[in-house]
Parts: sequence; C-alpha cells; structure tokens
Amino acid sequence: MMKVLVTGGAGFIGRWVVKYLLGRECDVWVLDNLSSGRKDNIFEFEKDPRFNFVEGDILQRGLVEELFELDFDACLHLAAAINVQESLINPEECFEVNVRGTFNILEEARKKDTKVVLISTCMVYKKARDGKPIDEDHPVCPLSPYAATKLAAENLALSYYHGYGLPVAILRPFNTYGPFQRTDSEGGVISIFILRTLKGEVLKVYGRGTQTRDFLYVEDCAEAIVRTALSSRVWGEIINIGTGRDISINHLAELIADDSQKIKHVPHIHPQSEIPKLICDHSKAKRLLNWKPATSLREGIERTKEWINRSGEAYLTKTTNYRIY
Ligand SMILES: NC(=O)c1ccc[n+]([C@@H]2O[C@H](COP(=O)([O-])OP(=O)(O)OC[C@H]3O[C@@H](n4cnc5c(N)ncnc54)[C@H](O)[C@@H]3O)[C@@H](O)[C@H]2O)c1
Repeated sequence: MMKVLVTGGAGFIGRWVVKYLLGRECDVWVLDNLSSGRKDNIFEFEKDPRFNFVEGDILQRGLVEELFELDFDACLHLAAAINVQESLINPEECFEVNVRGTFNILEEARKKDTKVVLISTCMVYKKARDGKPIDEDHPVCPLSPYAATKLAAENLALSYYHGYGLPVAILRPFNTYGPFQRTDSEGGVISIFILRTLKGEVLKVYGRGTQTRDFLYVEDCAEAIVRTALSSRVWGEIINIGTGRDISINHLAELIADDSQKIKHVPHIHPQSEIPKLICDHSKAKRLLNWKPATSLREGIERTKEWINRSGEAYLTKTTNYRIY
C-alpha cells in the first residue's frame, strides 16, 4: 500500500488524483492552501480513514519538512499558481509558488529519497507552425512568467535527478477540463462556455478563435499522473499527456453553444502569450506508462455539463465563499 502526498490536492486536477489514489487503497495526504482549491472538492473523501488534509502552504518550509517526516512513497506535486494572465500581472507570486515552492518540495524529498512527480504544462512549448503534434523534443519557449516558472521548476527537478539520483518525473498535461473545474476567470474555457450557455449568456472568444487546443479529460489526466508514480521506467523523463486531437476555440464554442448568435469575438487581453496551435504527441506516455486517453471530447463535455447543471452556480463561482467544513 502506497503513502502519497498530493500538493494542490484540493484543486481541480488534484482532487481527481486523490480519488484515483483512494480507489487504489493508498494512504493520501493533501497539502493545499486553498488559494484556488476548495474544501468542497475533497468533501467526499472526508470520511475515508486513509484521507488526510493539511491546510497549509508549500512556501511554509517548516510545515513541508514536518510533513515529509511521514516518509511518503511518492509526492505528486500539483500545487501551483496556474493563471497565465495573472502571471503577467503579478510574476513575483507565480515565481514564489512555482519555483521556490517546488524547491521546498524537492529539498525535503531529497532528505527522504521520496519519489517526486512534478506536474508541469504544455504551455512551455514553442509555437508549432507546421501543425504537427508536439512531442517532448519540441523546443520550449516561455511566453509568460507562468511558463517560465514551470520550466524553471522542471529544470530544478531534473537537477535533483541528475545531481542527487532523486527519482523525479515530469508530466506536461495539455489543456485539462472536466467536473470540478472552476467556471470563473481562473477556470478553463470549456467550463466557462458551458456555464455561460446554461445561463443563456454570450460566449466570448478571444482573438480570431482559430487558436487550437488539445483538451484532455481530467480523469484521464489523473490516471496518467498516478501511473507515473507507480512506474519504474519514468525517472528522469519528461512526458506529454494529451489526446493527440485538437479543436479550434471557434469550433469548441459551436459545439457547446446552443445558438451560434451567442458567440462573440473579443480582443485578446494578452495576445503575446497566445499559442496558435497546441496538439499533443502522447506516444511516449503510451510507451512508458501504457496510457492513452479514454474519454472523447463530446463525452467529456457531456459529463462536465451534467456536473455544472447539478452543482449549480453558487458552488462554482468565485464570489461565493461556499465552504462545507
Ligand atoms: N488545468 C489545466 O488545464 C492544466 C494543464 C496543464 C498543467 N496543469 C497543472 O496542473 C496542476 C493543477 O492545476 P489545476 O488546474 O488543478 O489548478 P488548481 O488551481 O485547481 O489547483 C492548484 C491547487 O494548488 C493549490 N495551491 C496554490 N498555491 C499553493 C501553495 N502556495 N501552497 C499550497 N497549495 C497551493 C490551490 O489552492 C489549488 O488547490 C498545476 O500545477 C497546473 O500548472 C493544469
């Protein structure tokens, strides 16, 4: 039975990782400062004796040190400042959490020889103009402090693998969506479009809407993360996770909107940080993790729509401070 620390485990992807781990009878510890995550996300695990929640910050070095005294088999490191636009406005906070925070995790993991799976992002890649799927050898180019701090965290993590022999693996998920993703400006485009459609509001498409994304359903993403922690073939590796199919934001809006008149194009806030085409080559994940995504975009959108419908707006918007315990 594995004992696992999930940083950012009260967040959107983190809570699915926790669910997956508990389903495999692992002991799970979550460290989350609830800055963008919510206790509501982990409410269903509260009664599970193998689930433990610590409200705290990865920047609190003493707390991180204390937690690692528990001798985890692995740390799945998801806690991060994730908002690209916000990173352009306030790069320092992004730097602190994503670089200094990752350093704290790596330092404590080094003392205990704990495996670390770092969740990075596809946003580190350079614009691909040929339209081909992006593999891990594709050049990187940080278009925002968010991407830069993720690259810095990746390099730090790799240095612990090469310099100290720490078992470290890096995952680069492509755009992830599904139930429990926020529908406010800190959420994802699919959740935002679905909520707006349900409320009869206009769907705002930034720029020309020709930019494409490879949308990964969150349970497939969580499965890849846990498979990485359980694998013996991944240490020192960077691995993409995505579906291998992309869709333009225009087509996505048409797929979700029930009335095409409700789709409006608005100027991009930070066009310089926009990547025109993102499509994942996941052959390495298939080879090393025996993983491939199981959920189609249509099916994933349906599940997300059903969840947003069921959960109601009060649960989902930032303005409501809806805490259960
Ligand atoms: N959602 C996506 O499309 C996507 C794509 C690629 C990579 N990722 C990466 O996946 C990870 C999870 O993202 P998410 O979409 O679930 O976002 P999220 O904001 O829901 O999750 C991040 C979690 O980290 C917590 N957190 C933030 N700063 C913290 C700190 N200093 N100390 C402790 N906890 C802290 C937040 O409260 C939140 O629960 C991030 O590392 C993100 O960069 C996300």
